[in-house]
Amino acid sequence: MSETYSLNPEFLWGGAIAAHQAEGAWDKDGKGVSIADVLTAGAHNQPREITDGVIDGKNYPNHHGIYFYDTYEKDLELMAEMGFKAFRTSIAWTRIFPNGDETEPNEAGLVFYDKMFDKMLELGIEPVITLQHFEMPYHLVTEYGGWTNRKLIDFFVHYAETVFKRYKDKVKYWITFNEISNQANQAEPGAMADFLIWTDSGLKFEKSATVEERTAAMYQAGHNELVASARVVKLGHQINPDFQIGAMLNVAPIYPATPSPKDMMAALKARQMRDWFSDVHIRGKYPTDITKLLERKGWRTDVTEQDFIDLEEGTVDYLSMSYYNSFVIKAKDGREPSIDDPTTMEARANQYIPASDWGWAIDPDGLRYTLNELNDLYPELPIMIVENGFGAYDDLVELEDTKTVHDPYRIDYLREHIRAVEKAIAIDGVNVFGYLSWGPIDIVSAGTGEMKKRYGYIYVDLDDEGNGSGKRYRKDSFNWYQKVIQSHGEDLD
Ligand code: BG6
Repeated sequence: MSETYSLNPEFLWGGAIAAHQAEGAWDKDGKGVSIADVLTAGAHNQPREITDGVIDGKNYPNHHGIYFYDTYEKDLELMAEMGFKAFRTSIAWTRIFPNGDETEPNEAGLVFYDKMFDKMLELGIEPVITLQHFEMPYHLVTEYGGWTNRKLIDFFVHYAETVFKRYKDKVKYWITFNEISNQANQAEPGAMADFLIWTDSGLKFEKSATVEERTAAMYQAGHNELVASARVVKLGHQINPDFQIGAMLNVAPIYPATPSPKDMMAALKARQMRDWFSDVHIRGKYPTDITKLLERKGWRTDVTEQDFIDLEEGTVDYLSMSYYNSFVIKAKDGREPSIDDPTTMEARANQYIPASDWGWAIDPDGLRYTLNELNDLYPELPIMIVENGFGAYDDLVELEDTKTVHDPYRIDYLREHIRAVEKAIAIDGVNVFGYLSWGPIDIVSAGTGEMKKRYGYIYVDLDDEGNGSGKRYRKDSFNWYQKVIQSHGEDLD
């Protein structure tokens, strides 16, 4: 029998989604077009297309999501039935400022989130709210060129100020940018790199753009986002000193492919290329290797002295993170690994662990490893896990009076990952204060736009084309997670 651990009763158990993957109602009640609204449906090995505006006849799955805009009350009641203490979602910026550059907000959008947050509070669920989760006004791309333009800092701060003031007595936990470091590596231009920098920064490149040009743009956009985040943290604390405002990164171990010094260096450099984002968020300054890189290359020139003051003064209260899989990195062709040229490193599959149907390595030990690593880098920093889960195909089966999904594969994944979190807390002393699994209700996949890549405890009867009854069914994992929460994480069987 495995060891068991019981977590503090205050521990925030729950789940997380994002507005664009769930709400639908993409053009309702004054909402503007967002960068998620121009992403077509894709599939595993078939990238989503980023279209120039919304084109008739294309399939845009985020336009309907799972109709959460209309169903959130019932859906949240199901979360409450599982015992959720916290629920993470995002505000669609385009509901509040449809174009992003208006001075006055859209009242109908504000009212929608008022009602949603009220419902959560009524159910005893703490809202955890992301300001930009792969979603910004499309207009800020066409008119301003996305996050490389520092005007976006002011637009974002104005948006944050509006929602902070409106919801200051309803929401305590905020997150500024979802997975801000996804865009860090532009070494392999192509669908994945395009998707990551589009969803993080609203940047789209010509095919002819070089790795160098893309990387330079990424550093400027990342800087602007970090400054915007820092200003928002400062402002948030003025509006309500109880606010807890966090950074959010997709973190995972980056293992060297072999113990050869070149591969060890490649893994280290790959991590440094990602972790400057968390360094700036948490320590308030750039790490020396990135500062040197930017000097050498002459990148990220559009900065002010005030930016660096804001970065120091606007450090985050906690780190929130997603964890799905781990990575293996190798020095490409035995070359000297260098952050100046990310093509000197390449990813490899990990032969020691299995992968999901979408090729994501399944590595629960990697979660404990990462939590330890973060605790070494940022001692005792509070950490909230705000995404972790297993995307899988599900079969809906008939029962006498309802339907369900038997999903032991999902339970196995979650059990082992939760156990890894519990060990990190109980044995290693890492300050993790919440675990929100990803997609507690099935939603549209961000990466592929599919419905059939399902993470939920709750099955949603919709297919990739948006056909289906939309009905919700409790899967086996629903009862399992309920028991986990009830037992404070002790009963994982
Ligand atoms: C994270 C995102 O990267 O991974 C989510 O923050 C996303 O928005 C999740 O849904 C899982 O990825 P996917 O592609 O399986 O939906």
